[in-house]
Amino acid sequence: MEPRTALETAARLIYRFLMNSIFANLPTTIFETMSLLARETGAVNLGQGFPDDPGPEDVRRKAAEAVMDGWNQYPPMMGLPELRQAVAAHYARFQGLDLDPAGEIMVTSGATEAIAGALMALIEPGDEVVLFQPLYDAYLPLVLRAGGVPRFVSLEPPHWNLTKEALARAFSPRTKLVLFNNPLNPAATVFCDADLALLAEFCIGHDAIAVCDEVWEHVIFDGRAHKPLMALPGMRERTVKIGSAGKIFGMTGWKVGFVMAPPPLMRVLAKAHQFLTFTTPPNLQSAVAYGLGKEDSWFSEMRAGLQRSRDRFEAGLKACGFVVLPSEGTYFINIDLAASGINEDDAGFAQRLVREFGVASIPVSAFYAQDAVTTVLRFCFAKHDATLDAALERLRRVL
Ligand SMILES: Cc1ncc(COP(=O)(O)O)c(C=O)c1O
Repeated sequence: MEPRTALETAARLIYRFLMNSIFANLPTTIFETMSLLARETGAVNLGQGFPDDPGPEDVRRKAAEAVMDGWNQYPPMMGLPELRQAVAAHYARFQGLDLDPAGEIMVTSGATEAIAGALMALIEPGDEVVLFQPLYDAYLPLVLRAGGVPRFVSLEPPHWNLTKEALARAFSPRTKLVLFNNPLNPAATVFCDADLALLAEFCIGHDAIAVCDEVWEHVIFDGRAHKPLMALPGMRERTVKIGSAGKIFGMTGWKVGFVMAPPPLMRVLAKAHQFLTFTTPPNLQSAVAYGLGKEDSWFSEMRAGLQRSRDRFEAGLKACGFVVLPSEGTYFINIDLAASGINEDDAGFAQRLVREFGVASIPVSAFYAQDAVTTVLRFCFAKHDATLDAALERLRRVL
């Protein structure tokens, strides 16, 4: 029915342009804010997590060759068969997993699509979803948009570990799904065996599905080996494991992700993927298939290179007088402001650091939806030595 009065017309216009409140009310992300400030002020940008290095040349060359010589039309919805084979072989080699490339592996446009698709496919409105704070910024809006009800477990520095009491408070008979990130960005921790066993016990006890964001699985230090939650007894049939070639090869713009799940879950995940992106550029898929087959030494050298950058930056931070939290994995290292004698909160200090000292970082409170920890600041160390040294030169003047 057409509006008859000016008031009705105004009401209709307001209604029409009322957009989805979850996205309409989201502020600009801290990553954009900090990167913008870094550009404006000419600061060294250790905020957003991407490496200075351009990525392995042979893998990039494969992608370029595939564009020129290959098939550039829609690849199969589930991903190129050669990539699904390569993913299966890769996880058998590095994590002892036995995955069927035909029914248990799907290629997505980055881990982000895999996470969004899993939440859309698995959550019914009203289902409770256990989330761990600090949490990756995409999780909460996607859970809410899927109709999920978040139940937070707050992790605290310096160990960020799970406790039975905290899990017992968050899990309930309505728990449908747990979204778990290991290694954990931004805490830069790798969950220990006891934490994984505790989480598995709660998932099994509450018959919940675990969606495991393991994009940092290869970026772990000091001889650690990644343990997928999927490999724990009783978890295989209830786990969706998510990986990202962008993180494995240090080319974050590639957005090639993979999802591994048992067939009954995969069938539904595939339905969501079908209408989210349907597919992912074929040249990047074939280059990633090649890359995943690289010899073990490439992966250990990649880790060693990042570990060397971590050590260089960590030693520099300590020499500046900052108290540094352990970085066990990811591209990140955190400083504890309170322990360093800084009484400002992380958001205010991050602003001052970029404006007055010329170093961009990320306040970890931005990764909390409630009861934020406000005393921790994150830096990305996946940078050239010269970039790290330039940042340290500036940080030396802070304390
Ligand atoms: C925990 C976590 N999940 C997912 C992503 C996004 O992965 P992708 O670029 O493959 O979508 C990131 C990127 O930083 C991340 O840190």
